[in-house]
Order: sequence, then structure tokens, then C-alpha cells
Amino acid sequence: MRRSPLLWFDTGTNVLDRLRAKLNTSADTTPDWSGFQTDIYRRATDDQILPALPTNLLALEALAMEVMTEEARGYIVASAGNGDATRGNRDGFNRYRILPRVLAGVDKRSLATSVVGESQLAPMILAPVGVQTLAHPDGELATARAAAHTGITYVHSQAASHSFEEVADAAGSGRRWFQLYWVTDRNVVLSFLDRAKNAGFSSLVLTVDTVVLGWRPADLNRGFLPFLRGIGVRNYTTDPAFMSTIEVARRGDPHAIGEQWLRIFPHAGLNWTDLAWLRDQWKGPILIKGIQHPHDATRSIDEGLDGVIVSNHGGRQIDSGLATIDSLAAIVAAVDDRIPVLIDSGIRTGTDVLKAIALGASAALIGRSFLYGLALAGQAGVEHVIRCTLAELELSMALAGASTPDELTPDHLRRTR
Ligand code: FNR
Repeated sequence: MRRSPLLWFDTGTNVLDRLRAKLNTSADTTPDWSGFQTDIYRRATDDQILPALPTNLLALEALAMEVMTEEARGYIVASAGNGDATRGNRDGFNRYRILPRVLAGVDKRSLATSVVGESQLAPMILAPVGVQTLAHPDGELATARAAAHTGITYVHSQAASHSFEEVADAAGSGRRWFQLYWVTDRNVVLSFLDRAKNAGFSSLVLTVDTVVLGWRPADLNRGFLPFLRGIGVRNYTTDPAFMSTIEVARRGDPHAIGEQWLRIFPHAGLNWTDLAWLRDQWKGPILIKGIQHPHDATRSIDEGLDGVIVSNHGGRQIDSGLATIDSLAAIVAAVDDRIPVLIDSGIRTGTDVLKAIALGASAALIGRSFLYGLALAGQAGVEHVIRCTLAELELSMALAGASTPDELTPDHLRRTR
């Protein structure tokens, strides 16, 4: 008798074992990301087992909405203003269409690349996202484990619900970067940098599009700012420099912590001339996140920074902002290969990553896309999103006639309107 299909999460199945075996056996082998596709068909054919989450990742948002609280939905899914910038990011990617070149001999493929001198198994990184316990109780620990398990870089938000040290324990040897919000108290900044370095975070991402919070009606209507309620402040509450600014008797009081956070978080006075100080404090690579104008990109090079991340924060800061894919080409031209240019905002699928790479990005970061996987299934959900995205990227790259990200060019795309 034929069994009815079971649902499965791919964590720990043969595709990962194969990937790990390859990674361990030879430095010049590369993960078989597209093998995930065959694995799915085989498991369904041989064992009647199906993936537990949809493989069309755009379907995850609606499913995640069903399992999240109203506050989490407002914080994670909603955006600044009317959501025009967030929708615009998706429209931007949709305007570009892929123009394949055939018979290109694409049997030996690799997604491997390098960014700011660090090798990456694929041109995709998990964006820094704060307060991940709003999506799932395991929060950043699940995400960091999923990243380490698949070999993808995890970026730890300063606004995380778990500390540097907790995440480092969870991630083991997985590559991790730290994302800094430059608060007004430099002692706290220094302490964060120190802890990040000691906990094995190799590169620094300085986010500059959030010197004040954007106008976010979904949160405003509920009066919900997690940090004021003691959520998303774990890096702060475990920090000696930050805690020393709070009266001893009030150190366990989320209200006192939230108020102190509010006193130092907005940093509207932050200026280009401040960057020299940061450059002195952090010896590893520094990437600047939230760049949308070519002049700001070239100024970042002048200030000695090592990478630019073109981002509008997923449309969460300025409503009606330009789609990041529409900012990319001019920034790539201005930077002229001097430092890598990365991109995020609106990236949901492997073909979105392909388009970003074809237009000159060295890597793409995904935000909400992995958060939806996290909300639905914790670590396994994040791994599902990573593997689906990279399998689709590798297969689409092959179908477009490229064997490596370097072979993708703007000529593989056409802008349709
Ligand atoms: C973010 N983002 C973000 N960025 C950052 O530098 N530090 C942070 O703490 C956060 N926190 C955060 C929370 C939530 C809920 C979201 C959705 C996003 C922005 C993030 O790094 C990235 O720029 C966007 O998520 C990219 O857009 P998409 O992929 O979500 O469309």
C-alpha cells in the first residue's frame, strides 16, 4: 500500500552530509547547492516524503503571518509609512528579466566567492536583523546555527535578543560578522567592539540609515517598540559599560533599561568625520550599510572602509525610497571595483540574487525571507530558506549560461519598464 506523503525538514539529511563531506575533504570543492533539488524529488519518489515548507519562498510571508503575534507581524512584516519603499523593492527586482545565453557548458559550477577578503561558499549572507525572538523563541541562536550548518555568514545585530557570546556558542566555527548601531556613548561602542572581537566576529557592519528610527505606523498604532519593553536589548543588558550607566537598584528593571537605551540610541549628529575614530578601533574589515547614493559610496572608500551595502533597510526607514536594485548600477560604477558592493532589500528568491550579482553586487543579503522561515520552523526553517534560495540561484545561473557568479553580467538582464 502506498504511504501518504510525510513532511520533512532537510536538516541533517543526506544533502548536508554530502555538503559537509565535501567541505572537509578538499578545499577546492564546493557545495552542491543545486543537489537539493534532486534530493527533494528522490525523497518524494523513494520515501514519499515532501518538504515541510513551500519551496516557492514568496509563499512564506503569508504562512508566517499566521503564526506570528500581531506585534511581531507589525514589527517584522510592516514597513515605514505606507509600505511604498518595501513594495518598490520587489517591483524593482520584477522589472528586471533574465536573458539566458545557451550552450555555455555549465557542468562545473560553483557559487563560491570572496567578500572583503573572506571566502564565502555562496554570494549570500544573512542580514542583521534585531529582536529575532519576536519571530521564534530560539531567535538568533537558531539563525546562527542554521548559518553555520549551511556555511553561510551570519550577521549579529546589535539589537539582538541574544548576546554576542551566546550566539558565538551557538554558531561554533561558523563565520559571523557584527552589525553596529553607533550609539552616542562611545564607551558602550568600544565595549561592543571588544566583545564582538573576543567572540570571533570577523567583520564589522556599520548601519548608517538608522540614526533615528523611521516612521512606522504598524508599530506606532500599537505603541510597540520592543526595546522599551526589554526585548532586543540582550547585548546591552550583558554589557558592563552600558549597565554601569544605570543606577544599581534599577539594573533589573526593563523600564530603566529601555529608557537608557532610548537616551543613547538615536545619533542624529553622526557624521562622516566620525568614521576615522571607528577605523582606528576596529582592525578587521568594515562594511557600511544603508548606502544609496554613489557619492556616499565613494566617500566610504575615502574614509578607509572596506565594503558598501546598498540598502534601504527593507523599506523600514524612509517610505517612498528608491528600490535598491535601481541604486545598484550607479554605485557599482562609482566604486569601480575598489571595494565590494553588496545589496539587500526585497531579495526573496534565487533569481533576485542572480539579478543583483549580474548588476555588479558581490553578494546579496536576505532579511525577511529567512525570518519567515525562522517564524515557521526555527533553525530548520532558516536552513530551508537558505537551501532553496541557493539551489534556485545555482540552477538559474546554469540556465542563464553562467558557471560562477563572476560570469554573470548586466547583459544577462533586461530592464522591462
Ligand atoms: C531589520 N534590519 C536591520 N538592519 C540592521 O542593520 N540592524 C538591525 O538590527 C535590523 N533589524 C531589522 C529587523 C527587522 C524585523 C527587519 C525586517 C529588518 C534590516 C535588514 O538588515 C535588511 O536591511 C532588510 O531586512 C532587507 O530587506 P528585506 O530582505 O527584509 O526585504
